Amino acid sequence: MAKSSEQPPRDNVQQQLENLRETLNYHLHRYHVLDAPEVADAQYDALFDELLALEAEHPDLVTLDSPSQRVGAQPSDQFEKVVHELAMLSLDKCTTEEELADWIERCQGRLDDPDALSFTCEPKIDGVAVALVYEQGVLALAATRGDGQTGENITANVRTIGAVPLRLTGPATSNLPSRFEVRGEIYIPIADFHAFNEQCARSGDKPLINPRNGAAGSLRQLDPKITASRPLTLFCYSLGWAEGEWQPSTQWQVVNQLRDWGFRTNPLVRQVHTLADCMAYVDEVQQQRADLGYDIDGVVIKVDSLAQQDELGAVTRKPRWAMAFKYPAEEAVTVVEGVEFQVGRTGSITPVARLQPVFVGGVTVSNATLHNMDEISRLDLRIGDSVMIRRAGDVIPQVVSVIESKRPKKAAAIKLPRQCPSCGSDIVRIDDEAVARCSASHNVCPAQRKEGLKHFASRLAMDIDGLGDKLLEQMVDNGMIRTAADLYALELEQVAGLERMAQKSAQNLLDALQRSKSTTLARFIYALGIREVGEATAANLAAHFKDLDALMQADMPQLEAVDDVGPVVAARIADFFAQADNTAVVQALRGHGVHWPLAERSGRETLLSGQTWVLTGTLEIMPRNQAKAVLQEMGAKVAGSVSKKTTQVVAGPGAGSKLSKATELGVAVMDEAEFIAFLAANGVQTDDG
Ligand code: IVH
Repeated sequence: MAKSSEQPPRDNVQQQLENLRETLNYHLHRYHVLDAPEVADAQYDALFDELLALEAEHPDLVTLDSPSQRVGAQPSDQFEKVVHELAMLSLDKCTTEEELADWIERCQGRLDDPDALSFTCEPKIDGVAVALVYEQGVLALAATRGDGQTGENITANVRTIGAVPLRLTGPATSNLPSRFEVRGEIYIPIADFHAFNEQCARSGDKPLINPRNGAAGSLRQLDPKITASRPLTLFCYSLGWAEGEWQPSTQWQVVNQLRDWGFRTNPLVRQVHTLADCMAYVDEVQQQRADLGYDIDGVVIKVDSLAQQDELGAVTRKPRWAMAFKYPAEEAVTVVEGVEFQVGRTGSITPVARLQPVFVGGVTVSNATLHNMDEISRLDLRIGDSVMIRRAGDVIPQVVSVIESKRPKKAAAIKLPRQCPSCGSDIVRIDDEAVARCSASHNVCPAQRKEGLKHFASRLAMDIDGLGDKLLEQMVDNGMIRTAADLYALELEQVAGLERMAQKSAQNLLDALQRSKSTTLARFIYALGIREVGEATAANLAAHFKDLDALMQADMPQLEAVDDVGPVVAARIADFFAQADNTAVVQALRGHGVHWPLAERSGRETLLSGQTWVLTGTLEIMPRNQAKAVLQEMGAKVAGSVSKKTTQVVAGPGAGSKLSKATELGVAVMDEAEFIAFLAANGVQTDDG
């Protein structure tokens, strides 16, 4: 075939590539920086496809700043050292108005024209500092702060962050300095942090400890593909240095200019003039702290005039022209007074540290989870130890580290108890499991029974509104209920007689119980609380057997024929249904009218049969587990990777290699909004809509 004669001339291709890259960069900026996308993801993907195809035909025309090159780099062995052209300083800090007033006075005392003093106030983002060097508008280097003089070259990792422009273009960049360095803070938004960890929990991967730690760890990956899978973003807050004609005169101007050039800047930055203005800002931002969606540890107040900044200079790594006003710490040191062992639904024993109460990040904390005995060994924790604890956002307080120098002589080792604290049965620990368990069944162990009932009532299971933990515990303790089936036999007067209940709230609960009787087979299986059967497995089982009796009678080979069910899980399921008391509860529930109309009569379960779907990126409307369950209920297979066999990819923000692979293979891609619309068109309602 005389293919070359059909190809457009090179100049033309070059132009086409440039146009495509410019359009893609424009949409990336709208999406990641301005949070105001103009096109659906699928449209973006189609353009991206076009770019990939054209670049594949003309590999010599691929440029490093092409949007296709964000995740291209190979894993490296180590990070190169980078000497900062201008040191990256740290900040002096204060916590009271008096200290801030003193600082302002000191500044005034040192300035030729103290009256002209004004400030910018900015949130102090709790992330990882980064310096980005741009040459002729193209990202040339990204470096960590390191010790302030020397950092590490993390360019390949930073290139994967959608909010970091690889090239600055557009009319607003006509005054761009030929070389300059932008500084900012890379972080993980709190919602993304939770979504990421939920995903880890499902896939059995190690979760991130907290958003800050997660950001730091993600940037330290030698393989940029791992960094690309983490939900990182950044706020840019200053100009390190700039070579060229344009020179700013104030910090306020810098932030606005950075934004206009296409960098993501914090919308709360404010220019102010007096101490009272600064304090008002400190208070306002503190009020908003819990709702910002990212962790901050204070605000930074900077002398606005860059000339005055120069005049003030720096002492020992800290500039005189900036001050961090710190909020109550989210990390604090306290003493571990004891360790208690909590019993979970499946008998798992979780150690919880009882702490000397300590005020952290605005609340008093007296417990912290220790996860399991291995974590205690990892921390080398003993009773009596002083520990650093951390509470970030709405994350459960964690023990970060032990302060060994403060260890008292009598610090006692933490031993796993031999008997279950709830029922007194033996605790067993199977060799290769991190978790220790109560050896008794939930028939014997009240703690397991309570936890099992909480699970049964929970949102992703039977979703019984108004049946809180305390209420359930009360009902178990006073013998009103023993099994889940007993819930459906509750009578109004009984419930109304409980603590903190009245006629109306009792009626509400009975109504909620009534509503919960109509569910899906997948939810029902999940609600049973079979060990190792999470939502995804429950959905697979429901999709496979379509009928509870078939599942209950299945033998090991039949169970292992289900997606994601191996011998261990199959054995758990078979064991569960082999126990007469379990099947009795199931029958009693059915006797009370619990049924699953959706799976029984919709006929939707065959709609997608034979299809393979892949979910990637962050799903923001429908949790990924739910999306997976719904697809499986409709008969689709949900796979973890994209191949030629994939029918459809659903890609949320942050989709990385799977999306590129789909594009490469020409697999259909839709975004979450399109997915929700598709479900709605097929009669599936989502929780939020
Ligand atoms: S200004 C000399 N502005 O705080 C100026 N820093 O404790 C130092 N940080 O290493 C940087 N948000 O990682 C500045 N709006 C902000 C900031 C900020 C967070 C971090 C930055 C720096 C550390 C200093």
